[in-house]
Amino acid sequence: MLRTNSTKRALVEYLLRHPDTIVSGAELCGHVNVSRQAVSKAVEGLREEGFPVESLPQRGYRFQSAGETRISPSWIESLLGDIPFGHPTLAFERIASTQFVVKEFARDGAEQGLLVFADEQTQGRGRLGRSWESPRGKGLYFSFLLRPSLRMNELQLLSLATGLAVRDTLEELLDVSATLKWPNDVLWRGRKLCGILCEAAIEPDRVHYAVIGLGINLSLSPEHLPEDLRQRVTSIEEATERNIPKNALAAAIVRRFYEEFQHLCEPRGALELVEAYRRKCETIGSAVSVLTGDEVIQGTAMDVTGEGTLVVETSQGRRLFPAADVVHLRRGGDVPFPEGR
Ligand code: BTN
Repeated sequence: MLRTNSTKRALVEYLLRHPDTIVSGAELCGHVNVSRQAVSKAVEGLREEGFPVESLPQRGYRFQSAGETRISPSWIESLLGDIPFGHPTLAFERIASTQFVVKEFARDGAEQGLLVFADEQTQGRGRLGRSWESPRGKGLYFSFLLRPSLRMNELQLLSLATGLAVRDTLEELLDVSATLKWPNDVLWRGRKLCGILCEAAIEPDRVHYAVIGLGINLSLSPEHLPEDLRQRVTSIEEATERNIPKNALAAAIVRRFYEEFQHLCEPRGALELVEAYRRKCETIGSAVSVLTGDEVIQGTAMDVTGEGTLVVETSQGRRLFPAADVVHLRRGGDVPFPEGR
């Protein structure tokens, strides 16, 4: 498991302000206020995290801004700065699931904001007990811990807030115009780009904790997927010509989510969140098939309520779905077009 420390974080903060520039050892020692030996040890640790810094004998160190390969906790924590999320950030090379790890920490009393990444998951989980293919380096796989003061029936708002945070970040950072499928899939041109899993430990009167997990397809290509999903999944690589700044993307999503989450607790916050969500939700106005328990109901999705519940007009009248799996039906026909993954 990799994590940052104060020296590594201070070095990264300095190096990020001087990209692609040679910075002398003396300059770094002065900035961080540690010995040369401590700087060289911290640089070694940063390289182990995948932070791209080279050592140039007799000259100093250089951060290669285009050289990132994986998520570096020091980088993420530097980008998150003082917001109370992502401290600590932990990164694992290969684990069963980031959801399992965060839940374990939550049961041991970890604080809200704990953030866990994996390069690869061997038992990645999706919604409704499905599996989530998580091959090394092909996606961003991460989960974070919340201890929200929400009622049980408001938990769906966390899902909506997460989807919106991902959608808005993709647009701002990468110019990728994505949409949302209720409750929280992020789509690009009708195909899934990101899946979100929200799990919570609850009692009737209180939420102990919630764990939000995100799987973002960076460069997942068809051969990594089972046959039936190949037409329904896309990747950021497909949606943008740009180089994908993994650390910046992940940190920006977490920051954006944090802002949404804070806003949610303000008066009118939930209402404003749902209003913003409605504007980007492709499900509203679509013919849908809704799967809930053993039932499959067809109709037209009319709205999402202030608590995040989907409202569907069916031949037998209006039905409300606080949680369910939705399939958008093909436009101009009623052939199911499952987006689920
Ligand atoms: C979905 O079914 O759409 C939700 C997929 C969520 C996948 C992410 S990857 C990181 C985290 N760890 C998991 O095992 N699942 C979530």
